[in-house]
Amino acid sequence: MSPIGVFDSGYGGLTILDGIRQMLPQYDYLYLGDNARAPYGTRSFERVYEFTLQAVKFLFQQGCPLVILACNTASAKALRSIQQLDLPAIDPTRRVLGIIRPTAEVVGSITSSRHVGILATEGTTRSLTYNLEIAKLHPDIVVTGEACPMWVPLVENHEYDSLGADYFVQRHIDHLLARDPMIDTIILGCTHYPLLLDKILKYTPPTVRVIPQGGYVASSLQDYLTRHPDMASRITMGGSVRYLTTEQPSVFNTSATLFLQHEVSAEGISLG
Ligand code: DGL
Repeated sequence: MSPIGVFDSGYGGLTILDGIRQMLPQYDYLYLGDNARAPYGTRSFERVYEFTLQAVKFLFQQGCPLVILACNTASAKALRSIQQLDLPAIDPTRRVLGIIRPTAEVVGSITSSRHVGILATEGTTRSLTYNLEIAKLHPDIVVTGEACPMWVPLVENHEYDSLGADYFVQRHIDHLLARDPMIDTIILGCTHYPLLLDKILKYTPPTVRVIPQGGYVASSLQDYLTRHPDMASRITMGGSVRYLTTEQPSVFNTSATLFLQHEVSAEGISLG
C-alpha cells in the first residue's frame, strides 16, 4: 500500500481529508493526528518543526510517497525546512505539500475590495506566512491576520456549539473587521475552524465571504497529481482510509466522529 499521508496536530486535518476524499475518493489515505502533543498553535517554531518532521518520517516509513501537512501551523512553521533541508536527505523522490499556498492562490480571484482577513492560531498568525504567500502571488492585496487562541480549545472540548463559542467567535470577528473594515473575504486559516462555521457566519456581515480551505486544498492536490503523473502512479487506488493517533484510539474515535459525521476506528502509535 502506498497511500497519501495526511498529517495534522490533532483532529483539524480531518476537515481537509474530508474535502480531499470528496474530490479524489479513488486513492488510499493514511491519516495521522499527533493528538497527544496537540495543540501546536501555541508551540515554538523548533517544537512544531521537530514534531512535524517526526510525523513525516513516520508516514514515509508506512509507505506514503506524498504527505499533506493538513495543518496551517505545521505548514507555516515546518514545511519550508522539511522541503528544503530534510527531504533531499531522506528521499528526494517523495513530496511534502502544505495547505497555505493553495489557499493563498485562490484568494486573488475571490476578493473584490483586495482586503483579506485571516483567522488562525497564534503560531500561524505570528509566522506571517499567509501575508508573505499572498504578497508573492497578489501584491495588491492587504492582509490582516487575527489570532484566535481560544477557538481550537473550544472545538477540541466539544464546546463549538456553546454560548462560550458565541462570545469568542464574535469577539475575534468584530476585532478583525474593526482593524480593517474594507475586508470582504475571510480565510479560515486553521483546519479546526470549519466546525465553528455556523457561529462565524452568524457574526460576519453577509457582504463578507468566509472561506474554509478543504475544497481548495482538494482542487490544488488534484491539479498537482494531474501535473505529476509519476507521483499519481505511485499512489495506490483502493479508496481506503486508515486513522492513526498518538493518543488513546478510543479518545480519538469519539472526537473524530464529530469532525467527520461518521464513525472511525483509529490505531494508536507513538512518535519520537
Ligand atoms: N489544526 C491546526 C491548524 O490548522 C491548529 C491546531 C493546533 O493548534 O494544533 O493550524
